[in-house]
Amino acid sequence: MAKALPIYHLYLRVPESAVAAFETALEGLGGALDVGGPDEQGLVPLQLYLGEDPSHAAVVAQLAPAALLSGMEVPDFTLELMPEIDWVAESRASLPALTAGRFWVYGSHIEEPPPAGSIALLIDANLAFGTGRHETTRGCLLALNQLIKDRRRRPLKALDLGCGSGILGFGAARLWPKLRVVGSDLDGPSVHVARENARLNRVSNRVRLIESRGYRARLIKDQAPYDLILANILAGPLCAMATDTARHLAPGGRVVLSGLIRRQERQVLARHRAVGLKLERRWRIGNWSTLQLRRGG
Ligand SMILES: C[S@@+](CC[C@H](N)C(=O)[O-])C[C@H]1O[C@@H](n2cnc3c(N)ncnc32)[C@H](O)[C@@H]1O
Repeated sequence: MAKALPIYHLYLRVPESAVAAFETALEGLGGALDVGGPDEQGLVPLQLYLGEDPSHAAVVAQLAPAALLSGMEVPDFTLELMPEIDWVAESRASLPALTAGRFWVYGSHIEEPPPAGSIALLIDANLAFGTGRHETTRGCLLALNQLIKDRRRRPLKALDLGCGSGILGFGAARLWPKLRVVGSDLDGPSVHVARENARLNRVSNRVRLIESRGYRARLIKDQAPYDLILANILAGPLCAMATDTARHLAPGGRVVLSGLIRRQERQVLARHRAVGLKLERRWRIGNWSTLQLRRGG
């Protein structure tokens, strides 16, 4: 049996109006963030799952600017080491394969063969975000399914920003056989998982995976401009990076933005329209939105 991984669980609740600020703050700690729906008091639960103990003091330091920005005290939070279960094996065993358009995403415990004509992606549940189950990942996979129908524009270079498990970059690489992908994530352990996943999905020769916060890494700049950028992050960082996103897109290039909830669409769209990107299509799944935009030219 695989060795159990330690998982630290950080839990807090903040008013709806402060969610974006706290999401951004928690992003700085790495890990996987889960944002729930508001309770009767209008408080939204935020849960962060981390592979390392961030320390109480570091959490306070990270939350303090968001609290200041939101005109409130640093909220109470709990930080606990989760019980030692073989979390990865447990979640793997309980995850059936899933379909998103042409994609069939499965774990290594699945024995059935892929459906005829599907594009099979092997992604095991792991600490890296992106098994395809989350509405934001699903929205991006559906966007890729739509983009492949445009036979006049076949992307040759793509960037998967915030790649997590690597699922989106692999999906794109499998759809367009000539596509070269750079996948990046600020979370080092996720990049390691993505590299292993790339090997298992036999796309390592076309998908390069690196650690980078936003567009900072040299390789990301050197490979620009991109015909396609996939960015499933969160509304705050997406808005903060809008100018960089537009700069790194080729004329006529497309970006798929996800990780935002419906009420953040206007803000995210306004920010990207201001840098010359036009909305082409959107997917709404549950409370989550995925936006496809295009640079003129
Ligand atoms: C919601 S997950 C998406 C994972 C995968 N792309 C998917 O669609 O399922 C967001 C990922 O973005 C990473 N991330 C968050 N902010 C980032 C930033 N500014 N630059 C690079 N990666 C970032 C996180 O570490 C996380 O792995």
